Amino acid sequence: MYVLGIETSCDETGVAIYHPKQGLISHFLYSQIDMHSEYGGVVPELASRDHIRKLVPLIKQTLLDSHLSSRMIGGIAYTAGPGLMGALLVGAATARSLAWAWRVPAIAVHHMEGHLLAPMLEENAPQFPFVALLISGGHTLLVRVAGIGDYQLLGESLDDAAGEAFDKTAKLLGLGYPGGPKLSELARHGKPAFTFPRPMTDRPGLDFSFSGLKTFTLNTFNASEKSAQDKADIAEAFQTAVSETLVIKCRRALQQTGLARLVVAGGVSANKQIRAALTEMVLKEKADIYFPRPQFCTDNGAMIAYAGCQRLLAGQQQDLRIFARPRWPMGELSNCQ
Ligand code: KG4
Ligand code: ZN
Repeated sequence: MYVLGIETSCDETGVAIYHPKQGLISHFLYSQIDMHSEYGGVVPELASRDHIRKLVPLIKQTLLDSHLSSRMIGGIAYTAGPGLMGALLVGAATARSLAWAWRVPAIAVHHMEGHLLAPMLEENAPQFPFVALLISGGHTLLVRVAGIGDYQLLGESLDDAAGEAFDKTAKLLGLGYPGGPKLSELARHGKPAFTFPRPMTDRPGLDFSFSGLKTFTLNTFNASEKSAQDKADIAEAFQTAVSETLVIKCRRALQQTGLARLVVAGGVSANKQIRAALTEMVLKEKADIYFPRPQFCTDNGAMIAYAGCQRLLAGQQQDLRIFARPRWPMGELSNCQ
């Protein structure tokens, strides 16, 4: 069964085709970054309108590239949430309508489940069970994963998500949107001049909090001369603090669960320093680590096609309603077994 996957939850239009035996057939991504960067962040109404413009041409392009006719598509997966309501509705309405026209099932996919399963697209895919660290613009989650849909929340951010903290700090330092990659580029030129706190690591538990770190960064920045070197040093200190905090919590999660596999996914998992620090920790713990390729750390259609395919194969599908849910706790997902 060829499954068409559609991602429109925020500022990227992603389309892909996945086949359970043949793997990923084709994938395309259109990023709205240039459009939003003028405003310093995502403008929801502009995002929705751009998805409307780009989605259907991208679906046509993906079909053409895969040398498949629409008749060969056996199911359509779309991101139904969490995300921006208008943006989600574009993908949901398009997917649901195409599925109806093509007489195939449609399946609503949880965006974070898409991220969580993205490493399954790689050659060296993890076996269940594993601990997953999901670090994106809207979420920071530690999850014990026993199978598809079998998720036990171990910890989460009580305030800002890791990606959000990167974006806000980048804004403070006068870097553009999206802040994560820009801040990490600047950090390469930073010297270890400051030490920032590692929030919530001195007490037990697996929750995160990044808003205090953001304030600490702001105060350090205001007290500095705001030179180019100061900015680079602050970026370095911030990135190191986030990275070490994630390392401490992931080590604790592996020890608490007794599991020896760690999956790291979501936009922030593209960060080289964070990848290296977590890899080093996991080596010492004699565990294995799995990341998606950098391109599939951030939003994409491939992870949605993959996640949807697994649920369709398990016999799940959506009714004829256009299903979009901007807030959707992962704990409400049904098991796939
Ligand atoms: O997963 P994603 O593409 O979208 C959401 O589901 O939110 O994650 C986007 C987030 C943004 O906050 C972005 O700044 C961050 O991931 N990000 C990074 C890097 N690349 C993307 N943060 C740090 N370092 C990076 N290299
Ligand atoms: Zn995402």
